[in-house]
Amino acid sequence: MPEPGKTKFQIDLRRYLREEEEDRDLTRLICEIADASKYIINAIRTGDLGVAGTSNLYGEEQLALDVLSDRIIRKRLVNSGVVANMLSEETPDIIPVDPHGKYSVAFDPLDGSSLVDVNLAVGTIVSIYEGGDLLQPGRNQVAALYILYGPRTTLVLSTGSGVHEFAMNQLMEYTLVNENLRMAPNCTIYSPGGQRNKYTPGTEKFVRYMEDKGAKLRYSGGLVPDINQVLLKGKGIFLYPHLEGAPDGKLRLLFELNPMAYLIEQAGGAASNGRQRILDLMPEGIDQRAPVFIGCQEDVARAEAFIREEESLSSAFAG
Ligand code: F6P
Ligand code: MN
Repeated sequence: MPEPGKTKFQIDLRRYLREEEEDRDLTRLICEIADASKYIINAIRTGDLGVAGTSNLYGEEQLALDVLSDRIIRKRLVNSGVVANMLSEETPDIIPVDPHGKYSVAFDPLDGSSLVDVNLAVGTIVSIYEGGDLLQPGRNQVAALYILYGPRTTLVLSTGSGVHEFAMNQLMEYTLVNENLRMAPNCTIYSPGGQRNKYTPGTEKFVRYMEDKGAKLRYSGGLVPDINQVLLKGKGIFLYPHLEGAPDGKLRLLFELNPMAYLIEQAGGAASNGRQRILDLMPEGIDQRAPVFIGCQEDVARAEAFIREEESLSSAFAG
């Protein structure tokens, strides 16, 4: 129950999770990550835009923001006492933490870090599994979240019962602002990544379909703000498709696609690689990439249909 005088929408993250009777270790883990983000925001807002290996005015070595963000999160995960294994987009291998840890975490500490110098929004993306296995299909995630460092800082989370948005207040606490976000079946905005002249015929047909139905183009180049727009507006689709010369697209399954697919599905949307549900893909390696069509269900299904249609046409010609 909300404290007297406090509406539910002033509830902070920890209290929300407690009231939802989430597992204590999971609550602890999520709150550690939320705490880490305060230091990341500070680094983004005030840090030099140094690249790794350079020195500042005082001759101290500077860390690139993505390397720094990685260290901040890793330290918190280790300190949480509940993490078995962790895997960061910044490091090449799974890092064992504590064999007794209840959860394992894959994360992208600062997605879109190349956008910081042009002052566009960036984010942290996190995927959580129970146990030690990080190489399993995304449908087995027990929680996923992202933190968006935009004009406001928000944290969007699912622990398997809907998707909820928390915003950072003046005291740097995350308080609930939107409970149970829902996606409409149809999109009015689309965010197409990659170069259009490298799209396959099915994707090209889908994009033309979006244009013909009058959808508006919205693409910032940052996965977190782009997905956040799709999710919060509830009427959008993001794609980073197969490209000529890049049949797996660009985005990484473990750090980027699985957590985003989990969140979008939890809001009633869908996520596909054009042929198959993202959350059913069995990862073959930690750096696996996949094409993605993610957002409103009917439009994701339409993209799949165009892709199937064009692929069967071209194999009919080839045959
Ligand atoms: O980490 C990958 C990323 O920066 C995402 O944030 C974004 O969706 C994508 O790359 C943008 O790629 P591109 O520059 O090809 O549009
Ligand atoms: Mn990334």
